[in-house]
Amino acid sequence: MLLVDADADEEEIEQAYRSRVKEVHPDQGGTVEEFQAVRTAYERLMAGYRENGEAPEFDDGDADADADSDEEGPDQRAHSEVTYLDYDVLADFGWETDDDDLFQKAAAADLDEVDYGQFDVDPGQSLLEAAEDHGFAWPFACRGGACANCAILLVEGELSMPASHVLPQEMMERGIRLSCNAIPITRELKVVYNVKHMPDLDELLLPPTPFDRAYSDD
Ligand code: FES
Repeated sequence: MLLVDADADEEEIEQAYRSRVKEVHPDQGGTVEEFQAVRTAYERLMAGYRENGEAPEFDDGDADADADSDEEGPDQRAHSEVTYLDYDVLADFGWETDDDDLFQKAAAADLDEVDYGQFDVDPGQSLLEAAEDHGFAWPFACRGGACANCAILLVEGELSMPASHVLPQEMMERGIRLSCNAIPITRELKVVYNVKHMPDLDELLLPPTPFDRAYSDD
């Protein structure tokens, strides 16, 4: 999966993973299955290093079949679990989006369910759809990748954004994604939602008319 030698050290595995995960990312022409298989291989190898100080034994069998049979491994039918945090809360507590312990602090802060919590996302479902299914009014406007009203900051995990979108590469590299257009491809994710007023995103906003209409009775 990672195209490394059996005696590869931690650094070689790390480099191979970074390169392979780009090649097989669904947005770069790969598939969700390939992406998850590469990620699973990487996580298993690194877990071996953490536990034993060395890589676990390689099994030359069918890696895909092996991964599919693993309870913790990739399963396209499995739900993803998203831990979310409202961007507006950060200013209230003096937190920053790049705080390493941002989500630990949020977990300990006794926040309202609308501001912090977890929900499941069905396979193939966008984050915005899942949030709405769980009763949350996450912001949006076009629902088609043409604005930044639904922007989120991806802190952990990975998402696929199959449709074309307005986000420049620089924002993608900062972890900005569009919740209406983003489908989880890892089992667990952490996201800060409602980040539309972060620097540089303002100019990509549309008037939120459909959102206002949807929640006009709230
Ligand atoms: Fe416009 Fe998601 S609502 S891109």
